[in-house]
Amino acid sequence: MTFPNTRLRRLRRLATLRDMVRETRLCVDQLVYPMFVCHGEGVRTEIPSMPGCYRQSVDTFLEEAAEVSGLGVPAIILFGVPDKKDPQGSEAYAPDGIIPQAIRALKESLPDLLVWADVCLCEYTSHGHCGILDGEEVDNDQTLDWLALASVVYARAGADVIAPSDMMDGRVGAIRKALDGAGYPLTPICAYSAKYASAFYGPFREAAESTPQFGDRKGYQMDPANLNEALREVSLDVEEGADMVMVKPAMAYGDVIRRVKDEFRLPVAAYNVSGEYSMIKAAASMGWIDEERLMMEVLTGIRRAGADIIITYFAKQAARLLAANS
Ligand code: PBG
Repeated sequence: MTFPNTRLRRLRRLATLRDMVRETRLCVDQLVYPMFVCHGEGVRTEIPSMPGCYRQSVDTFLEEAAEVSGLGVPAIILFGVPDKKDPQGSEAYAPDGIIPQAIRALKESLPDLLVWADVCLCEYTSHGHCGILDGEEVDNDQTLDWLALASVVYARAGADVIAPSDMMDGRVGAIRKALDGAGYPLTPICAYSAKYASAFYGPFREAAESTPQFGDRKGYQMDPANLNEALREVSLDVEEGADMVMVKPAMAYGDVIRRVKDEFRLPVAAYNVSGEYSMIKAAASMGWIDEERLMMEVLTGIRRAGADIIITYFAKQAARLLAANS
């Protein structure tokens, strides 16, 4: 059937009709809000490149977490900013480190808010790399023990999901084994499986003070040009026991999200990363784009690409808008 029998504009004319035939839905249940926690009391420092996002001490962090929960956002993902960093990244796996402290406090006051614990050493190492160094090289196999230990420490504190973002080979298997051995066989792992060496992480590194002091992360994070390699990463992580997998960043990687979703048929998360957020905030502050429309367009596009779950700094803002429009 062709024109004039077929007129696609017929179903676009009324808002109510458009609502009925919409193919992709964004809903608050699918959002995860990233939060940065630091030591101290009453600390609430806005991250200059990420307007609306803060580094907070546990007390102020709890206030915002209550707000997140009140908006219906089901989960947060936690990043720690320690006072002291060392070559081993000790605070990443210290039982009284900032992350276990924050998780315990959260589970006491808001037991139903899901806590995803990001597992990586880069926020805690003085050199800023994601693992333990051997000379100038990240020592993959030695790093696995510390990532596994950090995962157990976070699970013991009450983390609901363990999310390793380090990109070491074999880490999902090492973490699964350690969690099972420590009595946490039911704690799921969401692996940052296809994590690319991306310029979109710039603002996050300012937030977490985790810029590598020398070199870059190209020796462990993926080349943005590769898709087959992403499928190999996912396949290995699934074999090692990942319950969910992640593609990161999201906006320039819709094809990766789609292929992963179609080939593996397990829950796929996409990380709408710091630079993707900052670009929209910056352009909106110049009056160059409509912030809310662009936010919804980007989040819907990530869902349309195939993501079940979106980790986004826009979670609160999107939740408010979704509630207002429902
Ligand atoms: C830690 C980690 C990073 C992000 C999430 N976990 C930074 C990095 O790999 O440099 C980036 C998140 C963002 O940019 O929003 N390994």
